[in-house]
Amino acid sequence: MERILIIGAAGQIGSELTIELRNVYGNENVFATDIKQAPADVTESGPFQLLDVLDEKTLIHFIIRNKITQVYHLAAVLSGNAEKIPLQAWDINMRSLLIILNLAREVGLKKIFWPSSIAVFGKTTPKINTPQLTVTEPNTVYGISKLAGERWCEYYFNKYKLDIRSIRYPGLISYKTEAGGGTTDYAVEIFYEAISNRKYECFLEKDSTLPMMFMPDAIKATIDLMEADLSKITIRSSYNLGGISFSPGEISNEIKKHIPEFEITYKPDFRQKIAESWPKSIDDSVARKDWDCKYIYDLNKMTEVMLREIKIKLNK
Ligand code: SER
Repeated sequence: MERILIIGAAGQIGSELTIELRNVYGNENVFATDIKQAPADVTESGPFQLLDVLDEKTLIHFIIRNKITQVYHLAAVLSGNAEKIPLQAWDINMRSLLIILNLAREVGLKKIFWPSSIAVFGKTTPKINTPQLTVTEPNTVYGISKLAGERWCEYYFNKYKLDIRSIRYPGLISYKTEAGGGTTDYAVEIFYEAISNRKYECFLEKDSTLPMMFMPDAIKATIDLMEADLSKITIRSSYNLGGISFSPGEISNEIKKHIPEFEITYKPDFRQKIAESWPKSIDDSVARKDWDCKYIYDLNKMTEVMLREIKIKLNK
């Protein structure tokens, strides 16, 4: 029987993944934790505890006491926020991963999930259909921490046979919990602003195409990867995942189909440079071949669901 610990259960991925994992493994077997309070459905559907991943002693006691077999370590400082506090972000992102990896080895955890990102790529990476194996010269502190993290994951697999699995997520779009401080966050904010104010000032340029993915596809891919047979996993750094590629101009045209008076204006800030250093589209053929990764949502379907659900959420 699996007993799963989620670190970062109040975050954008964690708040949805917790519910899905509880559906699969049973509510009482999925332990949600975060340094901040999680949404009500997370705290009410199963165990939740406030916990700081950097507090190693409490963490190890928690894992032993609750007989944890798998950890999903999702806590991180995202790209935009990390640029404001580079050393602190490096410390949080790296030290937390190393704590988990080391603890997993000591306690003998069966599996670990750790998210990487398209941020591992940089200006020198081929931008279209970015391959699984390619140049990775990130120039954000977030990207550097994710790339270093990938190397550590592979190292722990090679040296200690620790079964760590990882996905390089594209920008994730969801209506439940907002992302915090990322470069791709505009693609979530735009829906809230379109519904509430009929206009949005975008912090990226009109034609800044980036790879994105709707959260239900990301959650399914994550669980599929974690459940895949060990023999199928050939990538021990992190799997490329493609999703949908679009620009602010394209998503605003899609929103206009539903809200014709919607208007977008552009006022690029420091995140424009980050976006320019990331790929426009991703080749995820290795993930498709290894564990049959596939997605359901395109821009059209995703926009429909986002508008419908956020309207309900905002009572509009
Ligand atoms: N969505 C993340 C960010 O923008 C990328 O992993 O920081």
